[in-house]
Amino acid sequence: MKRFELIKNDIEQLHQSITNPLNRHLCIIHHKKVLENIQKLSDNECLYIAAYMHDIGLYLGLLGKHAITSAHYTRDFLKKYDLFSEDEIKFIYDVIRFHSDKDKKHFYEAELLKEADKDAQEF
Ligand SMILES: [Fe+2]
Repeated sequence: MKRFELIKNDIEQLHQSITNPLNRHLCIIHHKKVLENIQKLSDNECLYIAAYMHDIGLYLGLLGKHAITSAHYTRDFLKKYDLFSEDEIKFIYDVIRFHSDKDKKHFYEAELLKEADKDAQEF
């Protein structure tokens, strides 16, 4: 939990830095909701980071499939910190990469994010 708390403010600053007001608003609300949902399902702090960043590519307006651009962006973002192992960064990358894949079931945590994301869209 500690490491997530360490970077949570930086992630929130990133959300706040989105220049388009509508995208910024949706980014903040959606990521908060998905984080809330995932915290009910798991105590895995890497999963919390994935939940809080999972659509960042979309809201930043990056070109390409949003699950991929978000995974790339998050990986590069996390590498700035000396907090996460390569395996943890790969785990977060994969959770984000697979979160919008409706055709295939992936590993347990990726499916948890899918569920948390889906539940957030129902509001
Ligand atoms: Fe989402």
